[in-house]
Amino acid sequence: MPRPPSAAALADLQAVVGAAGCLTDAAAVAPFLADHRRLYRGATPLVLLPKNTGEASRLLAICHRELCAVVPHGGNTGYCGGATPDSSGTQIVLALQRMQRIRSIDRMNLSLIAEAGCTLSAVQEAAQQADRLFPLSLGSEGTAQIGGVLSTNAGGTAVLRYGMARDLVFGLEAVLADGRVLSVLKALRKDNTGYDIKSLLIGAEGTLGIITAANLKLFPQPQDAATALAGVDSPAAALALLQRLRDATGDMLTGFELMPRFAVEITALQIAGVANPLALSAAWFVLVELAGPGEDLNLRTRLEATLAAAHEAEVITDATVAMSMTQAEAMWKLRESIPEAQTRRGASLKHDVSVPVSLVPELIQRGGELIARLAPLGDMIAYGHMGDGNLHFNASLKVGAAVAEFRRCAPVLEQAMFDLVESLGGSISAEHGIGQLKAAEFARRADPVEIALMHALKRTLDPRGILNPGKVLLSGP
Ligand code: MLT
Ligand code: ZN
Repeated sequence: MPRPPSAAALADLQAVVGAAGCLTDAAAVAPFLADHRRLYRGATPLVLLPKNTGEASRLLAICHRELCAVVPHGGNTGYCGGATPDSSGTQIVLALQRMQRIRSIDRMNLSLIAEAGCTLSAVQEAAQQADRLFPLSLGSEGTAQIGGVLSTNAGGTAVLRYGMARDLVFGLEAVLADGRVLSVLKALRKDNTGYDIKSLLIGAEGTLGIITAANLKLFPQPQDAATALAGVDSPAAALALLQRLRDATGDMLTGFELMPRFAVEITALQIAGVANPLALSAAWFVLVELAGPGEDLNLRTRLEATLAAAHEAEVITDATVAMSMTQAEAMWKLRESIPEAQTRRGASLKHDVSVPVSLVPELIQRGGELIARLAPLGDMIAYGHMGDGNLHFNASLKVGAAVAEFRRCAPVLEQAMFDLVESLGGSISAEHGIGQLKAAEFARRADPVEIALMHALKRTLDPRGILNPGKVLLSGP
């Protein structure tokens, strides 16, 4: 079990990185102690900022020797407290933010090697400059760092077409608990050699090793795209639209995001520069995006034709197709600003859940009933990645209602929501991971054999239990 670091251990760690590579001053350390949602507040004796893999390796070797707990830290945009130390004041924070080199781009092999501290936007831009696409896309991409994105196996708005973070990785470089460096950065589409170790580290939230760099999969840059907002009367109609778009456009469908009218109203009211489709009479809105490689695809025409047919069949009430890049960006801004609009409006109870796509309407119906019954001070605001079966199924405090009473409903609502999701064959964490927020629920609800295997892997890769203790798995090794 980890123990508090001695003064000598702290001095050894500081000596590896020098004055530029560590923070101890309270004001400088403060941003590393609270999570993005302000659910957790921790303490640390030291924030370490290695500038390369060699330094990170030496730091881990010392932590292993001294039994010091280490909490890896990226852009701090996670929703589950995965990058926040506990309140004991003994866990060392290791932030990857100085490791932000794009090491190489290979246009022919469609690959890019980025260090863990590169923001997701920086990776997207580097790919774009080489006329390539790195497709992972999140509202927080300007801040989220690639190490955290991979450690949490992040999802986002293009999963429908390109998959989650794990699907976008050729290879990894990571520092193991004892300081050894795992370096499997090859960009091979076929490499059928034994266990897939990199996939274990992806989504492990820094509990099995600390990702320092990754070789990422790129795609041809789309030459044509079309974006629209469609109004529908029900989630079942949205599902019918999804089916039509899939049939008509195949894998050119890159985005299919559902938004209730209420989410659009609060976002259009509070956030500048977002598209406002409220003139369309509809209870729900769907943001649709098509993208493809050739300029002669005429995607806008295809999208218009598919939406016109859906209108004719009374699947959609109406639609607006973006006529310019600016309009398309405003539509995406509307969708991506919903979390911020919700925060500005007041307290919310959040659930990041998924079910098979075909069951999304049932999830919304029954989840809405749960909110009405178990958290009546909240309005349902279920939005997000419908094309992936993933909704952010939230309740937003009604204006003027008592926040403390609302928050008291959270545990009961969460249990009921998770029971519902499980009964529909879904997941209690679709894309935000487990962190510390869901570790207990995960332990309780997951297949016991799966949990036992995870503990066995943890014991093997982190026998002293120093890597991000208390995250993902409840107890140490
Ligand atoms: C999103 O899709 O907007 C993000 O995952 C954040 C959220 O859960 O609200
Ligand atoms: Zn999301």
